[in-house]
Amino acid sequence: MKIKVIAGDIAKQKTGGAVIMLCEGERPGPVAAQVDKALGALVTRLVKQGDFKPKPGATHLLYPEGRIAGERVVLVGLGKKSDLTLNRVRQAAGRAASVLRSAGARDIVIASDGLGADAAEIGQALTEGSVLGLYRFLKYKTNEENDRAKDIQTITLLTRNASSKKALEAGVRTGLAIAESAMMVRDMVSSPPKDMTPAVIAAKAKEIGRQFRLTVRVLERRQMEKLGMGGLLGVASGSAQPPKFIIVEYRKGGAKPFIALVGKTITFDSGGISIKPPENMDKMKDDMSGGAAVLGAIRTAAALKLPLNIVGLLPATENMPGGRALKPGDVLRTMSGQTIEILNTDAEGRLILSDALAYACRYKPSVIIDIATLTGACGIALGQEATGMLGTDERCKNKLREAGEKTGERVWELPLWDEYIDLIKSDIADMKNTGGRQGGVITAAALLSKFVQKYPWVHLDIAATAWTEKDRPYTPKGATGIGVRLLTQFLRDFDKKN
Ligand code: BES
Ligand code: MN
Ligand code: ZN
Repeated sequence: MKIKVIAGDIAKQKTGGAVIMLCEGERPGPVAAQVDKALGALVTRLVKQGDFKPKPGATHLLYPEGRIAGERVVLVGLGKKSDLTLNRVRQAAGRAASVLRSAGARDIVIASDGLGADAAEIGQALTEGSVLGLYRFLKYKTNEENDRAKDIQTITLLTRNASSKKALEAGVRTGLAIAESAMMVRDMVSSPPKDMTPAVIAAKAKEIGRQFRLTVRVLERRQMEKLGMGGLLGVASGSAQPPKFIIVEYRKGGAKPFIALVGKTITFDSGGISIKPPENMDKMKDDMSGGAAVLGAIRTAAALKLPLNIVGLLPATENMPGGRALKPGDVLRTMSGQTIEILNTDAEGRLILSDALAYACRYKPSVIIDIATLTGACGIALGQEATGMLGTDERCKNKLREAGEKTGERVWELPLWDEYIDLIKSDIADMKNTGGRQGGVITAAALLSKFVQKYPWVHLDIAATAWTEKDRPYTPKGATGIGVRLLTQFLRDFDKKN
């Protein structure tokens, strides 16, 4: 995909499709007006008659038949101007790009003026929206070549203002770096579990390491044994695939302390001996979404050369019911020395994270953020519109909230009072790995809180947001790539005072 920025007249662009964004109750902006004029005021008429209502996400395809140089025009709604956000712009770009691809366009031009004050942010949002909206996972389709030939090859952002070109271009570079990482994550999460094993993820991390000059180390079973990682080893014991503990370091922050990002990387969650019912078990290939998001975020941080030190930790294993598998009733000793009684082998995420969080503490980090498809209960509590957030650090929670609003990857906080910790007390060990049906998101987080010592910590539960069953404006049905844009925004703003 090629993305460029030009200054010029949209009516004169030879393109498969021109994209015109309109706000409800507003006259067409300066660029839209050029097209409107060339089309004999057709756009104004369609809006006036109510044929096209510029509600968020609404689209209307027009064939100008020679009155402008482009083959097609798509009008796309932004909703009320007073409610306009970057996410609305991103959504409009995603919708417009996919409508034009379906219609047969091979390249598009997007009118980029009048969408907001900051041209760099607009360039970023238009890039992310259109690129992510056009994403498809074709690797396992036999006619991939055919489908690829029908892809949009070039996206051009057009401004009438030569002076905004530089800022738009900077935004395009940022947006593309972020979108590419999010698409890498979508690819990884969509891949069949037999092709996305812990070993494959370790190899992927090394490949990214070479590309972006990161230090990548992979601990094998022997080293995990030496470190006493009983949580990760316990979960891995039922699987034929060897576990990997993947460590990715990005150092561009001088003497600053590390930011630790920890991602749950279960490459398939069968539930283990407490096996899951067959319905939707295939979806449990997405249980490595947290680890993939951590890789994606560090990849973007490196691409954007952020002045930070970041360590990514990916405890990677399958959760399978093999003959050596963990059993309900077993007790594990974790790397921290604390013991956990297993009541349900399907509550495995918190077991592998207990070791990864303990390992993160070795870095004396300024903050630990873990991201995990941890509990079905999170979807019951919040649905698919928000990632669950719990933790001990108010400043980072606020920054994540802001990053969530800005990127559209919204988070919502749940409480983590001491009373919840009582619910995971075990009769025979230091704690137990389930706290009952009620408050499942919170009791899972309560267990994690036992492994972060005094370090500032935030937990993100993406169980319900890592995958979507319905097409969204820039997130087609399937793996969403959640976390990459959220964490990248968090990292970009990390040192900003507030
Ligand atoms: N990976 C699952 C959580 C999950 C469920 C993710 C649905 C995506 C969709 C996790 O390992 C799990 O199985 N959690 C159990 C915990 C329970 C046994 C305490 C759950 O949510 O049912
Ligand atoms: Mn599970
Ligand atoms: Zn799981």
